[in-house]
Amino acid sequence: MKSKKEKKEILLTGDRPTGRLHLGHYVGSLRNRVEMQNSGKYIPYIFISDLQALTDNARNPEKIRRNLIEVALDYLAVGIDPKKSIIFVQSQIPELAELTMYYMNLVTLARLQRNPTIKSEIKERGLEKSVPVGFLTYPISQAADITAFDAKYVPGGEDQAPILEQDREIVRTFNAIYGETLVEPELIVPDDICKRLPGTDGKAKMSKSLGNCIYLSDEPEAIKEKVMSMYTDPNHLRIEDPGNVEDNAVFKYLDALCTDEHFKKYLPEYKNLDELKAHYRRGGLGDVKVKKFLNAVLQETLEPIRERRHYYEQHIDYVYDMLEDGSKVARKKAKEVLKRVRRAIGVEYFEDMELRHSVYANVDDDFENEYAPVRVRR
Ligand code: TRP
Repeated sequence: MKSKKEKKEILLTGDRPTGRLHLGHYVGSLRNRVEMQNSGKYIPYIFISDLQALTDNARNPEKIRRNLIEVALDYLAVGIDPKKSIIFVQSQIPELAELTMYYMNLVTLARLQRNPTIKSEIKERGLEKSVPVGFLTYPISQAADITAFDAKYVPGGEDQAPILEQDREIVRTFNAIYGETLVEPELIVPDDICKRLPGTDGKAKMSKSLGNCIYLSDEPEAIKEKVMSMYTDPNHLRIEDPGNVEDNAVFKYLDALCTDEHFKKYLPEYKNLDELKAHYRRGGLGDVKVKKFLNAVLQETLEPIRERRHYYEQHIDYVYDMLEDGSKVARKKAKEVLKRVRRAIGVEYFEDMELRHSVYANVDDDFENEYAPVRVRR
């Protein structure tokens, strides 16, 4: 049983608790994560990166505290299951801080400043002149997040690629200097369809700062209102006009979410999305009809998620206990890995007798000294 479990590869991913999770998260990562979890092929570690969220929110810890529980609720709501995944909180694993200290010495300031993801995040936040050191260096602490659990696979969006590349460099440098110790992680990006859902306003990204999100926790009326006011093709003014389905947020959502079953149930005049798209392109199909269909699809998709969320909202203590238990399990793993790292670097002065002998050949283990009682107690 145990050896079988050990053959499974470790998968790790996390989210910053800076807001509730939305449909973009669901399409781009959550549903895929649940699928990987349920496949039974991996040992999934899923964590809430409150430390990383604090790197640009040091003055708003209450925001992070609040959203920690919101994200945990969203996790449970979409079907991340504490019986199958280790769900934990970054700040509860102090070993990550120590690992980060060792990794910091392996990365240059110039390399950090060149990271395209960090660069654009600094710009987005207007931090060009005042970037906190912790923010600039979060890719290093992210290398700790990943390597502390021997994670091989890291599912994440394309924006994570430059961060992960930097993490891989840290692993390679570490292993080259101190010997094979760390597992080199690999990013798994979702396939085309799931890459990125635009906002309801048609902007490239669904993002809470743009106010163009459909949240997993939205009530049915809110979903409907947002869908009915969605951005479509600005040149599709009259029903008869031919329409564009490529840059059309409504069709992008349908691409990501609708099935032939949905057509049977809610729009039986069409067999599938291809037929609907063909009609829209030809002209003669109004936006309202397509939006009503999308609304039906979304309502069906989000209802069970919202219901489960409501259930856990009534059992917040359970949610905290679940996070605490997951954090304990995760910490145990991180401690093992940290021990390996300390041995590799050679700072286990008191436990590693070989190390002692390598420093000074004539160490006498049997010598009775005044510290012996202390050692026994330990
Ligand atoms: N950077 C991720 C985000 O922006 C969160 C995160 C922190 C993460 N540490 C990680 C993701 C390790 C994958 C692996 O949300």
